[in-house]
Amino acid sequence: MAKMEVKTSLLDDMIGVGDMVLLEPLDEDSFINNLKKRFDHNEVYTYIGSVVISINPYRSLPIYTPEKVEEYRNRNFYELSPHIFALSDEAYRSLRDQDKDQCILITGESGAGKTEASKLVMSYVAAVCGKGAEVNQVKEQLLQSNPVLEAFGNAKTVRNDNSSRFGKYMDIEFDFKGDPLGGVISNYLLEKSRVVKQPRGERNFHIFYQILSGASEDFLCKLKLEQDFSRYNYLGLDSAKVNGVDDAANFRTVRNAMQIVGFMDHETQSVFEVVAAVLKLGNIEFKPESRVNGLDESKIKDKNELKEICELTGIDQSVLERAFSFRTVEAKQEKVSTTLNVAQAYYARDALAKNLYSRLFSWLVTRINESIKAQTKVRKKVMGVLDIYGFEIFEDNSFEQFIINYCNEKLQQIFIELTLKEEQEEYIREGIEWTHIEYFNNAIICDLIENNQTGILAMLDEECLRPGTVTDDTFLEKLNQVCATHQHFESRMSKCSRFLNDTTLPHSCFRIQHYAGKVMYQVEGFVDKNNDLLYRDLSQAMWKANHSLIKALFPEGNPAKINLKRPPTAGSQFKASVATLMKNLQTKNPNYIRCIKPNDKKAAHVFNDALVCHQIRYLGLLENVRVRRAGYAFRQAYEPCLERYKMLCKQTWPHWRGPARAGVEVLFNELEIPEEEFSFGRSKIFIRNPRTLFKLEDLRKQRLEDLATLIEKIYRGWKCRTRFLLMKKSQIVIASWYRRYAQQKKYQKIKSSAIIVQSYIRGWKARKLLRELKHQRRCNEAATIIAAYWHGTQARRELKRLKEEARRKHAVAVIWAFWLGLKVRREYRKFFRANAGRKIYEFTLQRLIQKYFLEMKNKMPSLSPIDKNWPARPYLFLDSTHKELKRIFHLWRCKKYRDQFTDQQKLIYEEKLEASELFKDKKALYPASVGQPFQGAYLEISKNPKYKKLKDAVDEKIIIAEVVNKINRANGKATSRIFLLTKNNVLLADQKSGNIKSEVPLGDVIKVSMSSQNDGFFAVHLKEGSGAAGKGDFLLSSDHLIEMATKLYRTTLSQTKQKLNIEISDEFLVQFRQDKVCVKFIQGSQKNGNIPTCKRKNNRLLEVAVP
Ligand SMILES: Nc1ncnc2c1ncn2[C@@H]1O[C@H](COP(=O)(O)OP(=O)(O)O)[C@@H](O)[C@H]1O
Ligand SMILES: [Mg+2]
Repeated sequence: MAKMEVKTSLLDDMIGVGDMVLLEPLDEDSFINNLKKRFDHNEVYTYIGSVVISINPYRSLPIYTPEKVEEYRNRNFYELSPHIFALSDEAYRSLRDQDKDQCILITGESGAGKTEASKLVMSYVAAVCGKGAEVNQVKEQLLQSNPVLEAFGNAKTVRNDNSSRFGKYMDIEFDFKGDPLGGVISNYLLEKSRVVKQPRGERNFHIFYQILSGASEDFLCKLKLEQDFSRYNYLGLDSAKVNGVDDAANFRTVRNAMQIVGFMDHETQSVFEVVAAVLKLGNIEFKPESRVNGLDESKIKDKNELKEICELTGIDQSVLERAFSFRTVEAKQEKVSTTLNVAQAYYARDALAKNLYSRLFSWLVTRINESIKAQTKVRKKVMGVLDIYGFEIFEDNSFEQFIINYCNEKLQQIFIELTLKEEQEEYIREGIEWTHIEYFNNAIICDLIENNQTGILAMLDEECLRPGTVTDDTFLEKLNQVCATHQHFESRMSKCSRFLNDTTLPHSCFRIQHYAGKVMYQVEGFVDKNNDLLYRDLSQAMWKANHSLIKALFPEGNPAKINLKRPPTAGSQFKASVATLMKNLQTKNPNYIRCIKPNDKKAAHVFNDALVCHQIRYLGLLENVRVRRAGYAFRQAYEPCLERYKMLCKQTWPHWRGPARAGVEVLFNELEIPEEEFSFGRSKIFIRNPRTLFKLEDLRKQRLEDLATLIEKIYRGWKCRTRFLLMKKSQIVIASWYRRYAQQKKYQKIKSSAIIVQSYIRGWKARKLLRELKHQRRCNEAATIIAAYWHGTQARRELKRLKEEARRKHAVAVIWAFWLGLKVRREYRKFFRANAGRKIYEFTLQRLIQKYFLEMKNKMPSLSPIDKNWPARPYLFLDSTHKELKRIFHLWRCKKYRDQFTDQQKLIYEEKLEASELFKDKKALYPASVGQPFQGAYLEISKNPKYKKLKDAVDEKIIIAEVVNKINRANGKATSRIFLLTKNNVLLADQKSGNIKSEVPLGDVIKVSMSSQNDGFFAVHLKEGSGAAGKGDFLLSSDHLIEMATKLYRTTLSQTKQKLNIEISDEFLVQFRQDKVCVKFIQGSQKNGNIPTCKRKNNRLLEVAVP
């Protein structure tokens, strides 16, 4: 909406008139006044139809902001105030949308703002075309090529502080979407003479100053340069500094731009090395040296600079030095070497510098093209931007100006051809009524210069190629002869007497009446510059350089490629490239920007009427307006016109069947466009006034909006309906699914309820059944029980009856027996004695006893005393007898058993019996001893010769001979002793020697003590005061304790008739000499196996641990 409030036509708030076509009255004064008025109001752009006139404001205006770009974007050309952006937008859109290649032709004098305009166009296009990382990089590279080329190709001139000293044509390539793909730059004729010499008040190319003020010390040192401008002959001193220009900052910009464009570090380095070399070349000076043949030969004054150049560029110093002193001319197998004089040496030096620099410049352009060229092979659309040097008229005009102005003539030609001539011719072609407009066609001037036979360039080339002495004067003479009659050629010496007295025209000059004015050219230097000669020795020296860039710049220096043919002259080269350019431009849709310089002082706000008037005149702008006015502002073939506006009329919308022209007629009638506003050509409709076109456009826009609304309406309807249908369908699906779900749920609920009800009923039925069954069973049981009871009662009754019957029968029998007895007794009483009953009783008894014994005889158990069997008692009255009989039998069989024993066995059993009486149930060791036979003499002393002495000492019978352990009181340890028991004594003897240690008569032994446990310890207590008692009691241990104690007991009894006291206690006292020591038996661990251990606990206590 915001946009709508802004202008909708250039007619709104117009200062003067925005389009000169609308100027009233149309004459030069009002034209200039209009421009001036607009200029004073900061309106620097004005249209003539679709041509933009741009007046250099010489100050920055706030009309190039991004907001402005947005404002002009996609707007109709005539909608907003005139602006270079409107033209750019028009060109870009027609390229993008109508697939027409475009070219933007920017013309005007030097300093009129062409280069700025070209940059504005490029930046606008960059701003509105596609976006994205890749596209942005392409854009950036395209834009950044400008600072690089400007640094090397622009210089300060009196007209312009940043004057392009080369022509530039740049093709920007786009894809079908309008995204930039890349570009190609062509350069035209760099003004290389500037390298070695600059007019007063002008500078050399920017790069020299930039490098000296911007490069770091380090970098300068590497390039062997010094900061001081005055050190260099090639840098004009009077205007080394330009106001408002920061060379140092620009240098950084240039380096940065080079990096962005894609220069490698080593390439940048090489480029600056060449620049440094050129600068230093200017410092080489020569001095004459007389030679024998009287000719002068040049010598280098100071070889230091030469040395540094050679170091910098890798050229062999001697080779370069020689190339500055000699010249080799080769002609048809001949090689002649001549020396150079000082002037020739200087000429050679400058030629080298110029060539180095201009070739470097061309190399830069090629290198940039390599970087920015489109990467794809898809079909491209092209927008060409031509920024070529403007028409130049200086005080001293030379070959360069001649060439530049020739180029401008050609451009004017194109302009004339494409606009004025083409327009008029088109009207004629289309059969439109047309009043011819006179305009100046400069073709005649172009012909004067470029005609292949008589053109000035052809003359110059002919002169250069001609054998013999050729000078600029001979060239002028030739011109005087050939061109004298040409109405645009003026010369003092020409045959035409018109100029004989024209003192403003010096003899060494010729003058051409260009379309933009008369220009006088100094003929001096034309031949040289056209030849553009570089001595072969120099190019060969360069080719030999150990510097890849320099070597590449001088391919002709390669001796292998020597070419004796002369290279094409500068003039013919230029002519050819201009011809190519013109051809190229003719294939594209032209867009014109005509730049005008308001004053000569580069000053803002100053509008010099005369200067502007001059430019308007030679640019033919007034004619341009006239043609526009006389004709029609807009034309279009019928088909596209109908196609574009057919929606404005019912008959033609949506399809017109019939010829397009008829359709357009119907359309225009319907729209009620006044008849004078348009004309029907043969193939095109011509619209006189732009406003008619705007009206059409507006209607169309309105209609398009309506159509869009219609489409939108239908689309929305369609969309809603589809959505509705979809929703309906979905609803049905959802509903069906939901119903299914709900029914399922309901069904399941009913089903489960049914199951519950069913289960209840079944339960109820089952319970009922169960109850019935239970009842039935109880009835059955009850019946059974009743039956059982009944049967029981019956049975008992029957039993009782049977018992009664049996008793009765018995009673009957008894009674019967008694009765019989009684009868018998009564009958037989008279036959029996009175005591017969007693006798019968006794007899019966005897008979029973007899039977018992007889049966017992057969039932006797075995004779073993341990057999416990005994037959059962048959009669109660024999009970005591039966027991007595058992006892007697046992005693008897024991006797029988004993009777089998020998005396010795008897003794043993006596002893065993004795032991049993002594120890059974008293000592835990006892049960183990029962099975062991008592042997007595375990040691057979008599048989062992070791004990002969002992045997001799004991002449009595030995009852016991055994090894025992005598317990030491001091430590509880044991020592082995032989224990001997004889009839009268007890002896202890050393086990090894058999020496008797002690001998005790049995009468002195009063007691033996031992524990109740399972150990073999025992103490033999001696009678106090007896002879043996001195040493105290014996504490011994033996494996046969039971046997020894028993035998000791029995022997003592038989000898002394006294019972030996045997004490069984777990704690007893033992007399050791004077002291009584307590021996205590405790339950010990089974650590040492089953052996009891004795330990001395203290002086009074020995502890025996029994496992
Ligand atoms: N549109 C503009 N706005 C502001 N200054 C301009 C504009 N056009 C040109 N200039 C000024 O004029 C100078 C010369 O312009 P330039 O384009 O280099 O001229 P030309 O290329 O025609 O010789 C520029 O350096 C700039 O200072
Ligand atoms: Mg320029």
